[in-house]
Amino acid sequence: MRSKNHLFSGKVALVTGAAQGIGRAVALMLAEEGADVAVNDIQKEKGEDVVATIKRIGRSSIFYEADVSSFRDCEKMIDTVVKELGGINILINNAGIVMDQLLIRMSEDEWDRVNEVNLKGVFNCCKAALRYMSRQKEGKIISITSVAAQMGNIGQANYSASKAGIIGLTKSLAREFASRNININAIAPGFINTDMTKNIPEKAKQYILSLIPMERFGEVEHVTHAVRYLASSASDYITGQVINVNGGIYM
Ligand SMILES: NC(=O)c1ccc[n+]([C@@H]2O[C@H](COP(=O)([O-])OP(=O)(O)OC[C@H]3O[C@@H](n4cnc5c(N)ncnc54)[C@H](O)[C@@H]3O)[C@@H](O)[C@H]2O)c1
Repeated sequence: MRSKNHLFSGKVALVTGAAQGIGRAVALMLAEEGADVAVNDIQKEKGEDVVATIKRIGRSSIFYEADVSSFRDCEKMIDTVVKELGGINILINNAGIVMDQLLIRMSEDEWDRVNEVNLKGVFNCCKAALRYMSRQKEGKIISITSVAAQMGNIGQANYSASKAGIIGLTKSLAREFASRNININAIAPGFINTDMTKNIPEKAKQYILSLIPMERFGEVEHVTHAVRYLASSASDYITGQVINVNGGIYM
């Protein structure tokens, strides 16, 4: 089944939060391009559906149910991926949540939970995967941050801070692991049509659209194209960068 012409033939990838939305699209793209793909999420049924689709494409795949905010679970997850799929070459840190609230009403729990999943989750998976990647002196890590990290957003103090943290983490790790031939980058999507953005009230949506030079929300494929580039050898001399996929809302 596996063809040498595929971009990621012989590679093993793990995508966190891959049961739906951007993560699902990224997992399927990597499989279409020849990778064996581990699907992580807290949504078992939907995650297993993605695994079944990957297997239909002809690639190996496993579902690993884990909350990325648990370091221990992330370590176990990466060990399982290596054992079951034979290695770990590409890590996509995609799992993320929002708990929007004006600061005045934001609880400590809402602050903590969003930072634990969005930021600590990236730390956990990077630390666990880099044990293997640094030994093999090869790897690609791509974390999904957000335009909210760069511009801020009303009602998203927790989310913006967690996503800005990903950028600092990415740049530090890129420096630490550059000599090991590991590329560590981030992608900052603007507003992409997924479940995460489907409940934006119409008035707010019209305001956001008025700020986007391209006058529309993006699609998950716009993000997967950037992932394809950063996960491939085409980007071998690129590390510590943030690629904006945002229709021009932030330049
Ligand atoms: N949609 C957008 O406009 C947009 C913009 C910028 C950044 N992003 C980021 O892109 C990523 C994907 O977003 P999406 O729009 O596809 O959202 P989504 O809500 O459709 O998907 C997120 C996935 O992450 C999973 N998840 C949540 N908490 C988890 C946890 N603790 N452990 C493991 N998995 C968990 C969810 O179950 C879900 O499947 C997120 O990091 C999000 O912050 C999205």
